Amino acid sequence: MNTATQVQSTSTQTADFLPILGTDYIEFYVGNAKQAAYYYQHAFGFQPVAYRGLETGYREAASYVLRQGKVTLVFTTPYHPGNFIADHIYRHGDGVRVLALTVPDARSAYEETTRRGAKSFLAPTTLSDSDGEVVLSGIHTYGDTVHVFVERTRYRGPFLPGFAPWSGFGQSTPVGFKYVDHCVGNVYLGEMNQFVAFYREVMGFHQLISFDDKDISTEYSALMSKVMANGNGYIKFPINEPAKGRRKSQIEEYLEYYHGQGVQHIALATDDIITTVRELRRRGVEFLETPKAYYETLLERVGPIDEPVSVLEELGILVDRDDEGYLLQIFTRPVQDRPTLFYEVIQRKGAKSFGKGNFKALFEAIEREQARRGNL
Ligand code: FE2
Repeated sequence: MNTATQVQSTSTQTADFLPILGTDYIEFYVGNAKQAAYYYQHAFGFQPVAYRGLETGYREAASYVLRQGKVTLVFTTPYHPGNFIADHIYRHGDGVRVLALTVPDARSAYEETTRRGAKSFLAPTTLSDSDGEVVLSGIHTYGDTVHVFVERTRYRGPFLPGFAPWSGFGQSTPVGFKYVDHCVGNVYLGEMNQFVAFYREVMGFHQLISFDDKDISTEYSALMSKVMANGNGYIKFPINEPAKGRRKSQIEEYLEYYHGQGVQHIALATDDIITTVRELRRRGVEFLETPKAYYETLLERVGPIDEPVSVLEELGILVDRDDEGYLLQIFTRPVQDRPTLFYEVIQRKGAKSFGKGNFKALFEAIEREQARRGNL
């Protein structure tokens, strides 16, 4: 690294009032955390880390913590009705409650964001056990979703104070997930810019990319989206709002079934999408189908790629290119009965964008198939 770069990156960090080291964990409120943990361990390859519940002396809810690479997921189910968690599940079904961010200073994160207008979720709180201490604080974002700031430099336990090591349900092997690439929120029509402003003004994020309904418009799935990223670029939060299509958009469908705004999808990065997706499919993870026609013109659209098109077609993996390189991606079906949360598996080969080209290419592929059937 040369001196100019060092100076530049130092001054960038100095200007960042909310330094974030990464995604700390994502917590889901679910109807049956024990079975969700089994699913994520055996289907998605997450490894057991920690548990908290009746057996550890915690009488409100059971929580299971699993990890793969830098991705930590927590699944929580309450033992009784008449509390916020139970109400959240009743209203939203299984879904994401907490997008937690690792910060060097949770008190400062709380003060800087609430001073700029964030609604408080959790005033700075120190938790401790024999493994040390963690400081947590939190603010609200879209819907019932919250950001928890986690300061864990003085903690050496498996997860958070109060959690015990947990060995899971038998053995499973990881599938190659490395880190959270991005987490997407769906918000109501007309509210995208309000949340863009929230991430810019309250959290100091900047807007990466903007595309509108002319870019992403299909008969089924019109949407508008803006991507907000933090200072070091580790955290990317695209925000979607529905746009008018000829039919109900997928964003409207989500909002209707989630009964509110919330996390639409979590993109998990892999270094080898072919191996990851092949293994996920073998384990029964369901993916969206890609029309055969998508692959007929793939190389014309994206130019030369390292992967054989026949293998991408066999697995349904999509490709998109931008100025800096290309990316491979695929989307799961929703992972619960409500058509709400799903996952994206992504491998970046230089590209820093989000696969915008695939919306249009997929739409055109669908139209070609309709035309072959004489239905266009
Ligand atoms: Fe995505």
